[in-house]
Amino acid sequence: QSIVFRPTIDSTNNLAQELANNGALEGTLVIADEQEQGRGRRGRNWYSPPRSGVWMSLILRPQLPLAHAPQITLVTAIALAKALTRLTGERAGIKWPNDILFGKKKCCGILTEMSAEFDQIHHLVVGIGINVNVAQADFPKEIQDIATSLRAVKGATLPRAKVVQTVLEELEPLYRQYVENGGFGTLREDWKQMNITLGKEIVAHTAQGTIRGRALDIDEFGVLLVEDQSGEQKKIYSADIMF
Ligand code: BTN
Repeated sequence: QSIVFRPTIDSTNNLAQELANNGALEGTLVIADEQEQGRGRRGRNWYSPPRSGVWMSLILRPQLPLAHAPQITLVTAIALAKALTRLTGERAGIKWPNDILFGKKKCCGILTEMSAEFDQIHHLVVGIGINVNVAQADFPKEIQDIATSLRAVKGATLPRAKVVQTVLEELEPLYRQYVENGGFGTLREDWKQMNITLGKEIVAHTAQGTIRGRALDIDEFGVLLVEDQSGEQKKIYSADIMF
């Protein structure tokens, strides 16, 4: 296991993918001070200014069927919600599938990318972006009202190394459980405790269109179950959720 550090990089996910394709071991962590092309979900940009946040990507190699790969995002979200709650003293909530929020504002996102060999996972790159010391006024104006940082929540700056350490402390045991259970298993209950999605009226923007309804549950694969306005149950595999 090793830590690869870069002062500046396009995206830590890109370097982690390259290293993983070249045989980097499980647990290899890529961290940068700054990303020039930080990537969010759905082709969005992720604001990654120098030394103000944790921009990192972890290489994992769980020997599991591909169907279990998306659950790693939910497992990581549990670890992040626990870590960020511990670091700030405020309750962090999980918005399905990959956002960690304080109140209604996002503080952290996860971008998981996977590579498969037939129906087995070859490797996963779990990209984690945490706004640590970003001053509220410094967020780009498009995200000013929907973004927050640990600094804004806590009212004090935090050392980034401590944030990295706390996240890894929480993630390691959960990841072991995920591998041993052969998937989500009992972690589904932990996720439910920390989530802020279920029970709410939501609008889900999926690649196939928009679904409005009530978020009922997640299944054993982490798929979101929604009762739409005609009372029909729908499975949502990937979406942007609005409350
Ligand atoms: C999202 O909420 O849309 C996901 C954001 C993920 C951002 C992190 S920062 C480290 C890693 N490298 C990237 O380019 N993206 C992820």
